[in-house]
Amino acid sequence: MKVLVVGGAGYIGSHTVYELIRAGHECIVFDNLSTGYKDFVHPNAKFYFGDVRNYKDLENVLKKEENISCVMHFAAKIIVPESVSIPLEYYSNNVEGVRVLLEIVRDFKIKHFVFSSTAAVYGEPETGICLEDNILNPINPYGETKLACEKMIKWASEAYNFTYIIFRYFNVAGADSSLKIGLFKDQITHLIPIAVQAAIGIREELLIYGNDYPTKDGTCIRDYIHVSDLAKAHVSAAIYLEEKNKSETMNLGSSNGYSVLEVADTVNNISSIKYRFTSRRAGDPAILMADSSKARRLLNFKPLFSLEDMIKSDIAFRRNYKCNK
Ligand SMILES: NC(=O)c1ccc[n+]([C@@H]2O[C@H](COP(=O)([O-])OP(=O)(O)OC[C@H]3O[C@@H](n4cnc5c(N)ncnc54)[C@H](O)[C@@H]3O)[C@@H](O)[C@H]2O)c1
Repeated sequence: MKVLVVGGAGYIGSHTVYELIRAGHECIVFDNLSTGYKDFVHPNAKFYFGDVRNYKDLENVLKKEENISCVMHFAAKIIVPESVSIPLEYYSNNVEGVRVLLEIVRDFKIKHFVFSSTAAVYGEPETGICLEDNILNPINPYGETKLACEKMIKWASEAYNFTYIIFRYFNVAGADSSLKIGLFKDQITHLIPIAVQAAIGIREELLIYGNDYPTKDGTCIRDYIHVSDLAKAHVSAAIYLEEKNKSETMNLGSSNGYSVLEVADTVNNISSIKYRFTSRRAGDPAILMADSSKARRLLNFKPLFSLEDMIKSDIAFRRNYKCNK
């Protein structure tokens, strides 16, 4: 299958390209390199530079590349606190980007669309376990932009006759076994890479926000998934769309909950870190976990990597890539 991967030079997009190519598919990567890297693009993928909000940039690709049957869309701004301070840039990049890309899907009659959404669309669910048909109530502009995109994709798919899979990711971590790609960003906001930075001396200590939550050890519980498990789910999604031609929305998480303290202790067992408790942050629910049974049922999705694997591969990638950020 020939797949256009928008945002394929970024963290999750580049891992998906690696898995698509390993599975024998052809990949075209489109990216403006705002947070991605040219050297993250698989050597066997063709690269086009451009902005997803610019119809002409995309049209140029589709005029040259025939027989693209699936578009996977990873390009977005993704930092929650930043989305609160510059919401309009988030609406521009995330929502306008999807709108223009869907015009391309319509005009070039592309059959299938895979979209990266997020657990942030759920907001603060009462039970802490997210099911796809829960009430969606985002509590920040990032989550709102992703929800707006989900709705736009659904309406466009009815009008323009393509099918889609919307994936809602939980906390993604780890690096590809090649150690050529991994999480490499100026602003790291996720727990595992922050803890790893503390372990390898890039950061002095890990701050743990709150130890008085109603959980087993008082720290928040989250669902972590290895980026390669997540990437492989996209390969399955492309095949599912091709075979069933049916649209779906699915959570992607491991459905194993780990507390912040458990993550810190697991990192500490691999490479010692200092951590310190501080007060709770606003908007952090005690528990946020995926029910991924739908993806298990429809895509045979079975995460293979453990929390320890995610941490070890992140450390190995950072050492290999010499990313002292
Ligand atoms: N990383 C996570 O833990 C996580 C969790 C939930 C959802 N997601 C979603 O997954 C997707 C990928 O996230 P990521 O962590 O790989 O982010 P990333 O920043 O590493 O990758 C995004 C890529 O898109 C490109 N891009 C951004 N805006 C663009 C534009 N206007 N035109 C062309 N290219 C553009 C960037 O250069 C980058 O290569 C995002 O949609 C994000 O919302 C990520």
